Amino acid sequence: MPDPRLTRRGLLAGGAAAAAGALAGCAPGQVALSGPAVPPTTPETAPPISGASATEPFHGPHQAGIATTPQTHAVFVGLDLLPGTGREAVVRMMRLLTDDARRLSEGRPALADTEPELAAPPARLTVTFGFGPGLFAAAGVQDRRPGSIAPLPGFVVDKLEKRWTGADLLLQLCADDPVTLAHALRMTIKDARSFARVRWTQRGFRRSPQAAAPGTTQRNLMGQLDGTVNPQPGTPDFDRAVWVGDGPRWLHGGTTLVLRRIRLKLETWDAADRVAKEFTIGRRLDTGAPLTGQKERDEPDFDKLNAVGFPVISEYAHIRRAHVTDPGMRILRRVYNYDEGLTPEGHADSGLLFASYQADIDRQFVPIQKRLAEADLLNEWTTPIGSAVFAIPPGCARGGWVGETLLS
Ligand code: HEM
Repeated sequence: MPDPRLTRRGLLAGGAAAAAGALAGCAPGQVALSGPAVPPTTPETAPPISGASATEPFHGPHQAGIATTPQTHAVFVGLDLLPGTGREAVVRMMRLLTDDARRLSEGRPALADTEPELAAPPARLTVTFGFGPGLFAAAGVQDRRPGSIAPLPGFVVDKLEKRWTGADLLLQLCADDPVTLAHALRMTIKDARSFARVRWTQRGFRRSPQAAAPGTTQRNLMGQLDGTVNPQPGTPDFDRAVWVGDGPRWLHGGTTLVLRRIRLKLETWDAADRVAKEFTIGRRLDTGAPLTGQKERDEPDFDKLNAVGFPVISEYAHIRRAHVTDPGMRILRRVYNYDEGLTPEGHADSGLLFASYQADIDRQFVPIQKRLAEADLLNEWTTPIGSAVFAIPPGCARGGWVGETLLS
């Protein structure tokens, strides 16, 4: 059977390329094909300003999009493999998707790209792949699935909705430009859909580089500085906390992702006063400093008592419950805000796409989440409504493909 990509889509791509060529060959003011005159320089054809042309390296020992400084926009897509998609088909799919990801990250059109002009600027696009429990079963490699790549144990705070939970395959795309991101999403999903169907799509955003100086901690929609205590890329603690170094060989250099969709009750949060808000987290809202310190990066003093003998940072404050003493046992929080519009009453459907990367989910994520579920003042305003877990394979070399260490 002929490869449909080389026929139907190949033709489409040829047509698109021919049209682009015809347009490019037109002098300013000339009529291109039968369409309108091409203006000399439109905002779209003018060279992009700032760092829009910046690229994040696609190849390497680790996949991009984890240690990468978070981009402004993200979309996480959970897919389920179509019935009958076995190992050989998964290999074909991953070869194809890796090729798309490599090209698009470099600002080049995907093979058979129907809108090749949209591939540039790359705007630091990263495409990251993750394997959920179902992929191991479908590909017949159950015996190589790490034990923690399974649904998390239930937590008392959970109100999980099926529409945001689980998935066989994850595509995580991040970029500093929403048009670049939308195009990359469409091109990769076009190729994925012969093998899988979309289960959920979760879009998120952070402060844009224009609005926050590089290196500053972003604010979430509750107004808090979010991301202060996090492993720092390039340090031994980061490597230990995030990259898999023991356990299954195929996953060495990879990591794991827990993606939790956490809804915020912003209406009642708005009703809380500043003292209550700061008490809840254990940090100040303005500077992000711990309640026992002056500056954002000051170490919290969990033993400090107030004038009447109570801890300044409450026993139930979020940062005390979430704190981990060994920096190599931390989780990497690379979170995005979500905001899905308003209810007819004008209430926001917003929250956090809580993306946590760690070498070992059972050793690192689960104990923290347990402590938070048991007693965290923040639970009053937060509800986990989605949950999914993925193994994130290591990166690949030029000519290789993501997943080859597991499937080839
Ligand atoms: C909507 C939900 C959440 C919000 C709004 C939130 C917000 C925050 C804020 C403002 C901080 C202090 C600044 C910082 O270090 O980033 C913090 C710290 C932290 N959070 Fe959360 N968080 C949420 C959920 C979670 C969850 C689900 C986990 C893990 C299961 C978690 C783990 C942590 C950790 C490990 C820290 C650092 C603690 C330390 O100081 O050692 N958070 N969070």
